[in-house]
Amino acid sequence: MGSKMVFMALVVATAIRFANCNLEGEVLYEWKTKLMDPFKVLASWDPTLVNPCRWFHVTCNGENSIVRVDLGNAGLSGPLIPQLGHLTNMQYFMVFGNEINGTIPKELGNWKELVGLGLQKNLLSGPIPASLGQLKSLRFMTLNSNKLTGTIPVEVLELVLWGDLQTLNVSDNHFKGRVHPADPTGYAVTTITQDPKIKSV
Ligand SMILES: *[C@@H]1O[C@H](CO)[C@@H](O)[C@H](O)[C@H]1NC(C)=O
Ligand SMILES: *[C@@H]1O[C@H](CO)[C@@H](O)[C@H](O)[C@H]1NC(C)=O
Repeated sequence: MGSKMVFMALVVATAIRFANCNLEGEVLYEWKTKLMDPFKVLASWDPTLVNPCRWFHVTCNGENSIVRVDLGNAGLSGPLIPQLGHLTNMQYFMVFGNEINGTIPKELGNWKELVGLGLQKNLLSGPIPASLGQLKSLRFMTLNSNKLTGTIPVEVLELVLWGDLQTLNVSDNHFKGRVHPADPTGYAVTTITQDPKIKSV
């Protein structure tokens, strides 16, 4: 009977630990399951831990909420998933230099605290979601060297003109039309870098 009790206790403890893995950990783990990770950089992303704050490449604030993901040049391929939008305290999402493909989820517009979005040098396609115009704290957004299409949403350009967005690099994509330059009055201190090829279209 003793060993049965111990076994039961272990099962219950494991179940509780798993249930405790907070929503944010579940979201990142869900993303991990969609990625190819040939160099096993996500090996520490263990969903049985209470929260993701001890995972490598993840930084939390004092309330155990994720504020940074640093996965530049990590050899990852696969999509960004809409559920990432639940990580609402994200400040820096640095996933440049991988083979991330698919579209930029519009749900990333929920990252109201976001300061830096580094998605350059991937295989992202489709349009820049207009919802990214909701990121009023954004200071840099580097989307250069992807396969993005469409036009730069007015909502995003407004961040350059009236928000804090100081660097927006959309160069080396498949956008159509002209990328409008910074505020004609010149008072936004801004670098919009763009593909010279599309300037004259
Ligand atoms: C992303 O890449 C994977 C693996 O190469 C491929 O199976 C998938 O269809 C691609 N998705 C898109 C949207 O291009
Ligand atoms: C913008 O992106 C292009 C293409 O990836 C790159 O060559 C250029 O150095 C970037 N500009 C800045 C200011 O970082």
